[in-house]
Amino acid sequence: MSPPDAPSRAEAAARDMGPGRCVRLLVLGGLLLQVTSAARSFSIDYTNNCFCKDGVPFRYISGSIHYFRIPPGYWKDRLLKMYMSGLNAVQVYVPWNYHEPLPGVYNFAGDRDLEGFLDLVAQLGLLVILRPGPYICAEWEMGGLPFWLLAKPDIVLRTTDPDFLQAVDTWLGVLLPKIKPRLYHNGGNIISVQVENEYGSYYACDYDYLRHLLPVFRAHLGKEVLLFTTDGLKYPELRCGTIQGLYATVDFGPGVNMTQAFELQRLYEPKGPLVNSEYYTGWLDYWGEPHSTSSAEEVAQGLQKMLEMGANVNMYMFQGGTNFGYWSGADYKKIYNPITTSYDYDAPLSEAGDPTAKVYAIRTVIGKFQPLPAGPMPPSTPKFAYGYVSLPQRVSLLDILGLLSPAQPIRTPFPLTFEAMSQAHGFILYRTLLPHDILEPALLSVPNNGVHDLAYILLNGQYKGTLERDKVSGVKMTGQAGDILDLLVENMGRINFGANVSDFKGLIHNVTLDSTTLRDWLIYPLDIDSTVAHAWPPVAPTSRGTTGPAFYTGTFKTPGINWDSYVKLPGWTKGQLWINGFNLGRFWTVRGSQQTLFVPGLLLSSSAPNIITVLELQAAPEEPIVLFLDRPLFNRTRSSDTKDVG
Ligand SMILES: *[C@@H]1O[C@H](CO)[C@@H](O)[C@H](O)[C@H]1NC(C)=O
Ligand SMILES: *[C@@H]1O[C@H](CO)[C@@H](O)[C@H](O)[C@H]1NC(C)=O
Ligand SMILES: *[C@@H]1O[C@H](CO)[C@@H](O)[C@H](O)[C@H]1NC(C)=O
Ligand SMILES: *[C@@H]1O[C@H](CO)[C@@H](O)[C@H](O)[C@H]1NC(C)=O
Repeated sequence: MSPPDAPSRAEAAARDMGPGRCVRLLVLGGLLLQVTSAARSFSIDYTNNCFCKDGVPFRYISGSIHYFRIPPGYWKDRLLKMYMSGLNAVQVYVPWNYHEPLPGVYNFAGDRDLEGFLDLVAQLGLLVILRPGPYICAEWEMGGLPFWLLAKPDIVLRTTDPDFLQAVDTWLGVLLPKIKPRLYHNGGNIISVQVENEYGSYYACDYDYLRHLLPVFRAHLGKEVLLFTTDGLKYPELRCGTIQGLYATVDFGPGVNMTQAFELQRLYEPKGPLVNSEYYTGWLDYWGEPHSTSSAEEVAQGLQKMLEMGANVNMYMFQGGTNFGYWSGADYKKIYNPITTSYDYDAPLSEAGDPTAKVYAIRTVIGKFQPLPAGPMPPSTPKFAYGYVSLPQRVSLLDILGLLSPAQPIRTPFPLTFEAMSQAHGFILYRTLLPHDILEPALLSVPNNGVHDLAYILLNGQYKGTLERDKVSGVKMTGQAGDILDLLVENMGRINFGANVSDFKGLIHNVTLDSTTLRDWLIYPLDIDSTVAHAWPPVAPTSRGTTGPAFYTGTFKTPGINWDSYVKLPGWTKGQLWINGFNLGRFWTVRGSQQTLFVPGLLLSSSAPNIITVLELQAAPEEPIVLFLDRPLFNRTRSSDTKDVG
């Protein structure tokens, strides 16, 4: 986008001002006024190619942190470490689906206390670059969009589809009024607000959608706030992602030619500050791929190069954190690729918030450009290896179906999706009876990759195998007419990037047995989390065996402390783990590379017994134990897994 032509009219005047002041423009009663000193103002100086804060040139060195990936009790610790790293700002996404779980139902309490988080940032004297979406990507479930948008199956997300716009407008009408008093010129610490996110990477390229969002943001936040966009380093991305009125910024990591990268921003913003809104300090992990790492030296050198060019930089991520519960997203790279529970990102602060070599390398670079705060970097939080814990109580999932799904099951001729059942996350059980005897092995499958994303198959309660989206399309079985066939279907996270964000979950096509379409289903929506949190362990027959979906429960006492830890699942396969009813996320030991789940110490009781619950979906070890370590393990697979590790 070209900047407004106004700056050139003011350029001559600006030249007379001398150093130290920057140019701020104000349109008042049709007159263009040049304001040189304004208390609490934040704007763009198109003359001096920088930001202008309170009338003087300003540059931010910022880091991304996601309050939704860190337990609230640790927010302050992480922010203090960011402050002590020399940053003057933090960049924060707001995930819509975290705050509006159902249409018109809002949650800003506890771990969703956005305003409490922003208060802490303000107390530390850090500025905020806010990214309220409505779409955020963030490797977060559905890129932050609420699943219930898909109740209208043909909705076209991130476009001017009227149903989408209506939901967006309602949400922004709730969120943005909370933001307005926190804007910098209103006395707060939010200096700029991003509209949408990397919209140019989205196939739709619907300018009218951005043109719709701009006045909505203006209506709620006012005329003065600096609004911007962020796009990747490709000409078409900037072309579709930018419109007049939103300042165009770019994002890129250390590996690129930075001169060329900012030249691309200059095509759209010939004047104004250079901004890299996402400078990648590391990268995310997918299940089944090695843990991503990047060199601290390379990240630090790239940062130095950009700062020498006078650029503003936000480091993505400064602390990654954890995808607790079911919140991790997925990418579609030829096939469906779910993202791991850990969002460590090889960021300067680790998943547990601990300073790494990268943070010190970055701080050294920052110190060359602006004064560092006095005092030491706060230390790593203490970790403790609580050791082995046995989980003796086994209950098969089918045995407590009534507890997990207390309402009557839905009777339906053909399967329904999670979205049709209004279930966001987790698991749904689909049950039918075999229509006839199957003497020769027949192929049970869901055509067109219709399992989203994994289906654990049981016949009369016996585990028969797993179907997996894009990987395992069928399982052979025999049986008799009237046998009970169950498909426990797991949602591994909705796609967060690209054209396929309308990612319906569950059985999205019919189930067939050879050429027969199976009919007459009972659907059990499962609310595992509230059962585990409130009615656990269940009063139910304990069962034996190691295969098929089952819960394993045990307790342990700590030696009077509640330090952070990491729990390893030796010999387990795939599932979910809770401690004291808190869902720590998915494990997938056989896929890797993540081998441990981060256990925030504040979940643990230092006096009462702590209850551990594992839902194993496929195969548990003969000896059901977990192992608490004082450090994380990545990049291991079961073949390299021995019991004495750690
Ligand atoms: C980076 O790009 C600039 C501008 O195109 C070019 O002059 C320079 O040689 C490039 N640097 C490297 C290391 O390739
Ligand atoms: C992880 O394992 C892969 C091979 O599976 C290897 O190429 C890679 O270097 C390892 N990464 C780390 C951080 O150990
Ligand atoms: C993903 O979206 C593209 C573009 O709309 C479409 O062609 C493709 O079929 C989709 N893929 C899947 C697996 O849905
Ligand atoms: C399932 O099969 C029935 C009967 O052939 C058909 O009406 C229905 O559209 C199918 N459902 C899906 C999702 O393909």
